[in-house]
Amino acid sequence: MDGNGRWARKRLRPRSFGHHAGQKAVRNAIEFCLRRGIAALTLFAFSSENWQRPQDEVSALMELFLKALEREVDELHGHGVRIRFVGELAAFAPALASRMRGAMDKTAANTKLALNIAVNYGGRWDIAQAAAQLARAVQAGEIDAARIDEHTLSPYLCLAELPPVDFFIRTGGEQRVSNFLLWQIAYAEIHFTATLWPDFDTAAFEHALADYAGRERRFGKTSAQIATGAG
Ligand code: FPP
Repeated sequence: MDGNGRWARKRLRPRSFGHHAGQKAVRNAIEFCLRRGIAALTLFAFSSENWQRPQDEVSALMELFLKALEREVDELHGHGVRIRFVGELAAFAPALASRMRGAMDKTAANTKLALNIAVNYGGRWDIAQAAAQLARAVQAGEIDAARIDEHTLSPYLCLAELPPVDFFIRTGGEQRVSNFLLWQIAYAEIHFTATLWPDFDTAAFEHALADYAGRERRFGKTSAQIATGAG
């Protein structure tokens, strides 16, 4: 969800103003997924690296997350949304962390949309924490180290119970992944758009989906194999 800061700067407003506008775009994206039957949406709201931003911006973002949780969780629950925060949650202030846990507990049984909000998240952190869990399982004698392969590691990654990511959208004009879901996007189609996140509205989402619909997903096979369903 890149571009909040630039969106605000264009309006001669502080960066936090852009994050507030970004929050509206988040709401719109969730409603869009519910309407279109998209079963999982994962948003990169705060990276492990974002702590390095100016203190007032970090505080404004934390305040915004807290308020959004207070305001939105009941409605999302009513719509059958399962909320999950993924990332190292221990780093957040107790009030915020406990609200995050509360939202996850309350909505745990919902099935309409899996809404994953990555906070204090990094793709490398995710792989490292999975490796650490796997190492503990080896130490406990539950797994034979000689048999480790990608199928042994993957259950320990965040979002392991969801299908792999189909589509990855980055707004704001940069063409990089920036340590988001690294493992999970191995075969994802990627859509880069110059649209700043607060401007990512229904038309922009439709446009992105049309781009996705035009892709041929080969998963390492040839076009001919895909066309005939062979292999
Ligand atoms: C990146 O844009 C955006 C963020 C670091 C924060 C994302 C947060 C929101 C969209 C707020 C609401 C989210 C939830 C889940 C309630 P940037 O600040 O890096 O923009 P820039 O590249 O233009 O400076």
